[in-house]
Amino acid sequence: MNHAFHGAPSRRDMIKTSTAAAAASVLAGVAIPHVHAADSNEIRVALVGCGGRGTGAAENALRVKNGPTKLVAMADVFPEKLDNSLQTLKRLGVAARLEVPPDRQFIGFDAYKKAMDCLRAGDVAIFATPPAFRWVHFKYAIEKGLNVFMEKPVTVDGPSTRKMLALGEESVKKNMKVGVGLMCRHCAVRADLFKRIKDGEIGDLLLLRAYRMAGVTAMEFSEPRPMGISELLYQIKRFHSFLWASGGCYSDFLIHNIDECCWMKDAWPIEAKAAGGRHYRGNFIDQNFDTYSVEYTFPDGAKLLLEGRSMPGCHQEFASYAHGTKGSAIISKAGHSPAGCKLFKSQKFTKADEIWHWGNPKDEPNPYQLEWDHLIDAIKNDKPYNEVKRGAEASLVTAMGRVAAHSGKIITWDDMLHHEQELAPGLDELTMESPAPLKANADGKYPVPMPGKHGKREF
Ligand SMILES: NC(=O)c1ccc[n+]([C@@H]2O[C@H](COP(=O)([O-])OP(=O)(O)OC[C@H]3O[C@@H](n4cnc5c(N)ncnc54)[C@H](O)[C@@H]3O)[C@@H](O)[C@H]2O)c1
Repeated sequence: MNHAFHGAPSRRDMIKTSTAAAAASVLAGVAIPHVHAADSNEIRVALVGCGGRGTGAAENALRVKNGPTKLVAMADVFPEKLDNSLQTLKRLGVAARLEVPPDRQFIGFDAYKKAMDCLRAGDVAIFATPPAFRWVHFKYAIEKGLNVFMEKPVTVDGPSTRKMLALGEESVKKNMKVGVGLMCRHCAVRADLFKRIKDGEIGDLLLLRAYRMAGVTAMEFSEPRPMGISELLYQIKRFHSFLWASGGCYSDFLIHNIDECCWMKDAWPIEAKAAGGRHYRGNFIDQNFDTYSVEYTFPDGAKLLLEGRSMPGCHQEFASYAHGTKGSAIISKAGHSPAGCKLFKSQKFTKADEIWHWGNPKDEPNPYQLEWDHLIDAIKNDKPYNEVKRGAEASLVTAMGRVAAHSGKIITWDDMLHHEQELAPGLDELTMESPAPLKANADGKYPVPMPGKHGKREF
């Protein structure tokens, strides 16, 4: 389907219009933030959220071969994160594609607006803050007619999913190109596997299994807030520890395995049943469980079994598998890339039963780069490209499993879509002085999920 029929302007039209508008406003003496147009073909990029992934996404954006692209503005709530990101990008060898002078480096909760104000309609904004802010930032990008790359998850709860689905529809109507950082969907090797599964090489899929069992990852375990940082900024800094900010370690880490399994099944689950708990917590006060065990059910009754564990000293595995009536598949074997996809004629992953594998894993193209090549290609050639609905649905399915574990109830797709627990209302009005969305008690501890105690709410 070509969304251009909505009558939305193409990038070329938008550049012409915005250049004319810029000229007109300059003539009228109205100062608008803009950068000098060395090349009207150049796609300008603004980075909102300058942490690890934001820096990586910016690097991918600047390395596309179908550009040219240039990073022109950056936004964060911590100046040191922005500085580090800029210095890292310089070291990564993309310095020639950086044009971010101090007056286009913005700090604060409104920094995202200022960074996006440096773009022309049709340029690209990258959103790589904690997921809670996604809908806030996306709403502004829609107002400005920008293309977007936003990291996963794109929502954390029922209300933010409903908002994101509505915004997604608006962005499709405006012919915006929007990529969502579920990069495995762009993996050429998994795409080959998907085609083979659809062609029936291992029959009908009855069971999928996914594992992300590791030690402590990123900021999922947190100690009480130290002196010298506000409650709000502490929760943002340690966003994997707080459900409002990220959906916790469950949503932030497990979404990739859930999504790649649902891709291979070519369906979303309709319900989730789950267990989980907290062990050896010591002084950690975050809201996460450290084990999750989930059974998702697809419309045809097939299952996805998911194991998440954050516990040092235990068996570790980061992989997804599929089992069909005529054989089985490795979807991913150790992280995201290389995928190492294989097909087998039995349920045993043995060399003797292998019927297909994709070349040499060392030659697998990097999906983080592919997702950018695809986005820029869509922008340049005005191809339909909008991953918001799929990204929101993947985030919803992920939240279904999390809420099932945290509440101890069966959570259906509809339960989750209509779930009323809004973990962080009013994020679009946040300032540095705002109270944190989650309150600590007098001991500095936060509410944790207690299955069976709060109906279908998480805590
Ligand atoms: N696709 C992947 O494989 C992948 C890998 C890692 C992270 N991610 C995703 O990327 C996002 C960021 O993760 P990260 O690991 O880079 O975390 P990070 O903490 O390193 O980076 C987040 C940055 O956002 C900034 N920030 C927070 N709130 C902000 C706001 N309101 N406005 C502007 N800046 C704000 C923080 O200060 C920080 O610099 C998460 O959604 C995460 O799930 C995706």
